[in-house]
Parts: sequence; C-alpha cells; structure tokens
Amino acid sequence: MHQQVIIIGGGPSGTLLALILARANIDVLVLEKKPKEYVLSRIRAGVLEWNTVEMLRKTGVGKRMDQQGHIHEGTLLSSSNKQFRIDFKNTINKQVMVYGQTEVTSDLYEELEKLNNVKILHEIDDVDLSDLTSKISIVSYKDKNGKLHSVKTQFVIGCDGFHGISRKHIPSNILKTFEKIYPFGWLGVLSETPPVSNELIYANHSRGFALASMRNENLSRYYIQVPNSDKVENWTDESFWNELKIRLPTEASDTLITGASIEKSIAPLRSFVSEPMQWGNLYLAGDSTHIVPPTGAKGLNLAVSDIYYLSDAIKLFIENNDAHLLETYSETALLRVWKGIRFSWWMTTLMHNFPNQDEFERKIQLTELDYLSNSIEAQKSFSENYVGLPY
Ligand code: PHB
Repeated sequence: MHQQVIIIGGGPSGTLLALILARANIDVLVLEKKPKEYVLSRIRAGVLEWNTVEMLRKTGVGKRMDQQGHIHEGTLLSSSNKQFRIDFKNTINKQVMVYGQTEVTSDLYEELEKLNNVKILHEIDDVDLSDLTSKISIVSYKDKNGKLHSVKTQFVIGCDGFHGISRKHIPSNILKTFEKIYPFGWLGVLSETPPVSNELIYANHSRGFALASMRNENLSRYYIQVPNSDKVENWTDESFWNELKIRLPTEASDTLITGASIEKSIAPLRSFVSEPMQWGNLYLAGDSTHIVPPTGAKGLNLAVSDIYYLSDAIKLFIENNDAHLLETYSETALLRVWKGIRFSWWMTTLMHNFPNQDEFERKIQLTELDYLSNSIEAQKSFSENYVGLPY
C-alpha cells in the first residue's frame, strides 16, 4: 500500500492538517490510538487567537464557530482582588474568539467525514516508523481488529501529542529538549452555570492563581492553582467554590453563581520544546514537540501555526516539486513556538504563587501587575501576544 501523507494522531492538529491537504486533493491517512468518542470528549482550553479563527474559516470549518463562539475584545486581570482590564481592541485593534477546542475538533471531524480522499482510523496500536531518512518511509500499525498493516509514504506527520511515539523516532544525538516543570497544577471545574463575567478573569492572589473562563451563556470553566501533590478527591464542589471566591476579585466573587460540577480534573503545568521539528520524512507538530502551561491559552494556537507552515510546505512540494518550505519548516515554526513558550512562561510566572517565593519576588510580581495596569505600552505588548503574533 502507498499513501501520500500519513498523520499520526487525530486530535486538532492532525485533523486540521488532514482537512487542508485533502481539500488540495492530497490523499491522507490519519492513525489515532483512541476511539473517536474519546477524542471528541476531551475538555481543553477555549480561547482562539485571531490567526486560528482565520485558519479555521479559510479551511471551511468556521461556520459553527462564527455562530456559537464569542468574540472577546479584552480580558480582566486581578491583583490581590483588585481588577483591571486589558483592551485588545483599543490597544492593537484585534480580538480573540472564545470557542472550545472540543468543538473545533468536532467541527473538523464533521468536515473530514464528507471527503473521500482522507481516511481516519481509530483504536490503532503498535505504530512504528521506519526508513525515515530514505526516499520512501514505512509506517506499520495494528488496526482495531488486530490486523497488521505496513504502508509506504513520503510524509510522516507526528501529531500524536506529548506522550506519542513520533518524537521518539528522532535519534537522541539529534533531538534536543528544553523543559520547565512548574511546582503546581490547575484544578479545573466545568459547571452548567452562567459565567461570572462576560470576559475571562486571570487572578493573582497570595493563596494562588485562579481563572474564570467560559464556554457559553450557561457553561462556565473555572480553575484554581493547586500543589502538584493534590488529588481531585480532596476537593468537593463546595471547597472548590469557596477557594475560587477567595481568589477572584470581589466584583466577581460577589456575583458568582455556583452549581454542581460536571467535570473536575487536575492538570500539571509544564513548558517543553523539542528541536528540531523535522527529521528525514518525519515532521512534528503541536503537543508532540512543544507543551505550554495553559496560562496564556497558547496550546492549540501554537499547534495551528505549526499546521499553517507545514500545510503550505507540503502543498508547495506536492504541487510544484519545490522543497524549500519543507527544508525551513522546523526553523520557521520554532521561531514562533518559542515566542509562545516565552509568553506562557511569563504569564505563568506573573500570575502564580510559587512555593518558595520570597518577599522580594512577591513585590516584583505585584509591581509588574501594577505596571501592566497603568502602562498602555505594556498592555499593547500583552495584547499582541495574547491575541497571537503574526504568522
Ligand atoms: C479555558 O477556558 O479552559 C481556558 C481559557 C484560558 C486559558 C486557559 C484555559 O488561559
């Protein structure tokens, strides 16, 4: 069997790339480890940069996002319960779209299922990649009925997340990794309650960070910083709401409507980059090659910018036999990735309470927030990064 492009991983980056390529008449096979229902039920972040919005629209998957998503022209930050607003529209004349990653993935699947030059196989195991530096590479896998397959291809795309197998195929003397593990995680709750505010609130509090986010008029997403050693079982709904109220600015906690949680989980925070993002015929994108802490809402958006560069490069090669964008993919994508890594690290460092933080560091955090609340220049820089740097 021969396939033009094989994508390992059927999450948002894999399926977005599959859709762009399939629309350009390129045959694509997507191999996903998990069942489709699992992929479509994972709850992830919900803020789309304007570049992401435009990519989705251009790929023909923007319709439901435009109907059901919410455009936000600013965000709120708070420091010791005092809130201030950063206005994206006034500072840089741009905005973001609040629309869940779960919905984006579901829209992508719906479009892909209409096309007949793309196949998505679920519950695939034992994926192995070989001959990655030969002209033609081989992808072997076991399908959900246990049958073994071996497929030849010129392009193997690793979109299989941090724990995926793709990155591990780059030899260890070539792969370089950069990592920072934060000494805390986020406890997240989804509840069928109206959001406390019509814009997101990122709160710095001496007891730890909190975030008020949302999915729609009757679905809220809240987070609080917890120690890495904490367990979901330690948190009842009531203890979660009590802690959230303490950390949010008073304007918000006074009007917070609480209710039963419909999802509750703890996610650790890390920054991670692996370089290069290409080796032979293997190209990596999204979480398989970089992870950001969720504070800057950059995870999905960085995956989409990888796909922007990679889809252009593959199309140029297949359509015009021109390899120059493929050759520069890793370098080009990494320049933007590192800017997202930097912003997410900066915002995480600014907004969280670090276990061994001394009084000097606390003063610096509060001073930086005060500066940000008063300086239009600092707000411009925040907006530019939050809304998304240009491709
Ligand atoms: C979310 O809504 O889940 C969310 C929003 C903004 C973030 C992180 C998560 O920075």
